[in-house]
Amino acid sequence: MTTSTSAYLAHFRVWRGDEDGGGLEDFKVEVNEGEVVLDIVHRLQATQAPDLAVRWNCKAGKCGSCSAEINGRPRLMCMTRMSVFGRDETITITPLRAFPVVRDLVTDVSFNYAKAREVPSFVPPQGLGPGDYRMQQEDVGRSQEFRKCIECFLCQDTCHVVRDHEENKGAFAGPRFLMRVAELDMHPLDAAAEAGIDRKRTAQDDHGLGYCNITKCCTEVCPEGIKITDNALIPLKERAVDRKYDPLVWLGNKILRRKP
Ligand code: SF4
Ligand code: SF4
Ligand code: FES
Repeated sequence: MTTSTSAYLAHFRVWRGDEDGGGLEDFKVEVNEGEVVLDIVHRLQATQAPDLAVRWNCKAGKCGSCSAEINGRPRLMCMTRMSVFGRDETITITPLRAFPVVRDLVTDVSFNYAKAREVPSFVPPQGLGPGDYRMQQEDVGRSQEFRKCIECFLCQDTCHVVRDHEENKGAFAGPRFLMRVAELDMHPLDAAAEAGIDRKRTAQDDHGLGYCNITKCCTEVCPEGIKITDNALIPLKERAVDRKYDPLVWLGNKILRRKP
């Protein structure tokens, strides 16, 4: 290994353990210019802790698998430059807190896959072939923002609704999947309503939209810079409320309820 002249030793505290428990272990690890936290974790594996479990794939901020908490903040390890920390600072790396630990820095994120499966997928309009779809650029742009999601689940991890309240997990899909519902509800070609799926109602009743109190913590940690709260959750809340207080919907519900 070549050591550059600007290399220094940094103090790391890394959580080691499994579902039965664990704790923080201290390490001194070499840091070189231009490195990111994932480089240091790899060096730690190579030199001092060969059995340290860590999940990663791309090292380019695109696969969403190296999510962890660095000094308590949910971040991608591959996109967190060492230069953002002082040389004397102790850097603490812990697994995502909202999900069960598998081992060391690896958590079981299957909660998110279960929630993804609960969102009905895009319903293509009847009688239109894929090549015949036409959308306004404004509508395309709106979907494109949400489609930048790399499924790192940092927003899911940071949301206080589930972070400290395991009991809410059944009723709350989390920002990533409420954003998915919003995307589909705003999609001009989605024919879910014709197929009997009321996305606004499911957002409230099945995915727990009412639990979100628009604190924007999810937006703050999103590595793709998606404005989850402003562009997805707040508009979805507005649409769901509009529907609830729409006099025609109210009248329709009354008439339907009167039927024997
Ligand atoms: S804005 Fe809503 S979804 Fe996002 S972190 Fe806050 S409560 Fe959770
Ligand atoms: S919305 Fe952002 S923070 Fe949430 S999973 Fe997608 S990329 Fe990650
Ligand atoms: S390793 Fe792929 S996002 Fe970090």
